[in-house]
Amino acid sequence: MTAPAPAPPPQHVAIIMDGNGRWAKQRGRPRTFGHAEGVEALRRTVEAAGELGVRYLTVFGFSTENWRRPAEEVSALFDLLRLYVARDLDRLVEDGVRVRVIGSRVGLQSDIAAIIADAETRTAANSTLHLTIAFNYGGQDEIARAARRLAEDTAAGKLDPASIDAACFAAYLDTADLPAPDLLIRTSGEQRLSNFMLWQAAYAELVFVDVLWPDFGKQALAQAIEEYRGRERRFGGHGA
Ligand code: IPE
Ligand code: IPE
Ligand code: MG
Repeated sequence: MTAPAPAPPPQHVAIIMDGNGRWAKQRGRPRTFGHAEGVEALRRTVEAAGELGVRYLTVFGFSTENWRRPAEEVSALFDLLRLYVARDLDRLVEDGVRVRVIGSRVGLQSDIAAIIADAETRTAANSTLHLTIAFNYGGQDEIARAARRLAEDTAAGKLDPASIDAACFAAYLDTADLPAPDLLIRTSGEQRLSNFMLWQAAYAELVFVDVLWPDFGKQALAQAIEEYRGRERRFGGHGA
């Protein structure tokens, strides 16, 4: 008898990058130090994702609720997005990575909006790895924005309300061009979605790891993928 073929790696991995503040606190350093180290972890993870056969990687960088943090911390997080794109975009272009940013553009400074547009345009023809950064993103906000556009199209007579179904609705979400995540990882031991991919995670396998985000890298990603491969996905049907 031949052994069953190993389960394929997840095509789309989504990550809630959590625990930067605790990582810094453990070292007696300010939270922003943890966020800076978090960017290093992101670099490692983007590289590792490609090596491990992942085609789509989506990371949660700033939530619509993170505006509740002190202005100083919010501004440090925005600076890190600027820095990440400034330092890494050339390499991402070269490595064939397609960059997308999902989330609301409302409230973003104009230079951030321009940086995002530049990153998306320069990588638009790439397809080796699809890196999506959720920034100023909230699942409820995304769904509400989609509903608003859907209502506008309906009011303008472009869309028949009777034709609205899940697939039609999904085409109005920020993730219209992306497959649903297969594996959703949250670091730092917290076990909640915190408004991430509420629609898209309907059938994602959830893996919660204790590692704080600045310590994340290839080994932790490989381990989460191993756990995913051991899961049985049924999508509401019967097991194989
Ligand atoms: C994740 O780390 C980064 C963002 C939410 C932007 P946190 O800043 O949430 O770190 P903890 O959860 O306080 O440790
Ligand atoms: C979720 O983490 C947001 C990001 C990772 C960007 P938070 O640290 O903001 O989530 P809560 O507040 O613990 O739920
Ligand atoms: Mg947190």
